[in-house]
Amino acid sequence: MLIRHPSGFDLKDNDVTPQSAYLRRREFLAAFVAAGGTLALPAAAQAKRAMPDDYALLKAAKSGYTVDDPMVPWDAVTSYNNFYEFGTGKGDPAKKAHKLITKPWTVTVEGEADKTGTYALEDLIDYNALEERIYRHRCVEAWSMVIPWVGVPLASVLKKFEPNSKAKFVQFFTKNSRKEMPGTFWPVLKWPYREGLRIDEAMNPLPFLAVGLYGRVLPNQNGAPIRLVVPWKYGYKSIKSIERIRFSETMPETSWNQSNAREYGFYSNVNPLVEHPRWSQASERVIGPQAGFSGALARRDTQMFNGYADAVAGLYAGMDLRKNH
Ligand code: MTE
Repeated sequence: MLIRHPSGFDLKDNDVTPQSAYLRRREFLAAFVAAGGTLALPAAAQAKRAMPDDYALLKAAKSGYTVDDPMVPWDAVTSYNNFYEFGTGKGDPAKKAHKLITKPWTVTVEGEADKTGTYALEDLIDYNALEERIYRHRCVEAWSMVIPWVGVPLASVLKKFEPNSKAKFVQFFTKNSRKEMPGTFWPVLKWPYREGLRIDEAMNPLPFLAVGLYGRVLPNQNGAPIRLVVPWKYGYKSIKSIERIRFSETMPETSWNQSNAREYGFYSNVNPLVEHPRWSQASERVIGPQAGFSGALARRDTQMFNGYADAVAGLYAGMDLRKNH
């Protein structure tokens, strides 16, 4: 029997899973698996290691990482995106990202590590260890969304490459394909899109490599097949469609810092006290179910480190956060 799961692109308005139905579907599946049920995959497909389908992602264990506020609806998180490789408009990625080829996918690891090389995505991600983390996503343009990601901790993957003692930073690169990514025709940013973290930030338990969203395989516009999520930093640090990782001794280039160092620092920690020249960071527009996606908008005060201060403030002890913005 063929069970077809709509991808984000197949979805019509009335197909959109409301949050309550998503949670019920999860509960049903969890009960089914707990009762010893196996998913209806042919034996050959079960034996072969492959990227997961939506059912595999629904099995992801719930984690303690959650946020008290309601989650952003599926249709908002998959249609209001920044992914400049597909254009600078918020609606461009949902319209154009289907051009991105995500299978097969490899990640090349370079620099200060013992296990450098090119890895198939299936060899990097342990699909039996997937977990769901509900994080608040805060964009520098002063909006936020609460998003249920599925993936694995970044540190669990980076450790596999055995970074050496010179690895003080880690840099990530997005795929760079003029053919698949029409937005890269214009030099709005230095392509490939690149981002970086200090190694102790990267090894903190919070940064997450997401392969799914709302229990479904990540839609292309959200960074398929693998993207970073760093919840205490502005959204642009959460680089999408990662194809290369480089460990380095010196602070690496980042696309936004290169384009405008005054507006975009390397650290980019969410900080209501450090103003951005164009957007006040004191409060944010919440894109969520009650506020409506395009209707009346709720606002909330921005929290230091986006609400994750307990977990990360220690990383910056003694640093001037205004200077190191
Ligand atoms: N990654 C790449 N490769 N290209 C981009 O333009 N935009 C960033 C980040 N990652 C971007 C990117 C910005 S500005 C934000 S706010 C988030 O992706 C948006 O993620 P979302 O569309 O899943 O909400």
